[in-house]
Amino acid sequence: MANEKIIVLLGPPGCGKGTQAKMMVKDVGVPQISTGDMLREQRSAGTDLGRKASEYMDKGELVPDELILDMVKDRIRKPDCKTGFILDGFPRTVRQAAALDKMLGGLGLALWRVIYFDVPDDEIVRRLTGRRSCKACGKIYHIIFNPPHSEGKCACGGELLQRPDDNEKVVKERLKVYIKDTAPVIDYYGGKGKFFKIEGGNMGIEQVYAKVKEIAA
Ligand code: AP5
Repeated sequence: MANEKIIVLLGPPGCGKGTQAKMMVKDVGVPQISTGDMLREQRSAGTDLGRKASEYMDKGELVPDELILDMVKDRIRKPDCKTGFILDGFPRTVRQAAALDKMLGGLGLALWRVIYFDVPDDEIVRRLTGRRSCKACGKIYHIIFNPPHSEGKCACGGELLQRPDDNEKVVKERLKVYIKDTAPVIDYYGGKGKFFKIEGGNMGIEQVYAKVKEIAA
């Protein structure tokens, strides 16, 4: 039986996957793998993958599985993933979930936990439209729920930016895509012993994290 801490964070856009993953990295001692962050890095670097992915991301649609799967396969083979990793934003379709099982099986690994954050739509819209991220270190803020000490500036001194897909119109499209393509992943994992749900809509970041820590231990 594998002892690696391979953890999937699942839930709608803006439910807090990235916020929780960044906190877990220190305590669990394994890296965060955010497919959204990886795609944004590709876009900033002006690669072919980044250009292709942008067409989908800007509209709130999913990037095709073919482009995602190779990227994840390469990433989880890196040496820092030897003791486990936190998947944030992947898998996002049942096909991706099945492909992940196959990838892990091929490496003699198994999932440790799937943590699903259940957050209602109106709260998602509030969270995403108020989100700001640091251009330099990636730290995530919220203008009301987790504000920076000085407006527009991260604790590290970096500039805080709003993601182009965090406007209300695109957020609503992302929620539609989530219901159609990603919600079935909940059923894919539900019922298997490693699946845990957190009702996170009315809980603050630290309250959610206390639960996450228990589950991931
Ligand atoms: P991605 O970057 O993965 O976006 P997402 O899943 O839509 O998730 P977010 O990053 O928006 O939210 P989050 O859950 O991390 O929330 P956060 O912690 O920031 O993907 C972007 C795009 O890339 C996709 O649309 C798609 O096109 C493409 N893509 C990525 N992966 C893909 C894949 N596998 N397949 C195909 N396409 C893919 O929190 C949000 C806000 O809420 C923050 O301001 C935070 O401070 C606040 N907050 C967090 N927790 C709480 C709380 N408990 N109470 C109050 N506020 C809170």
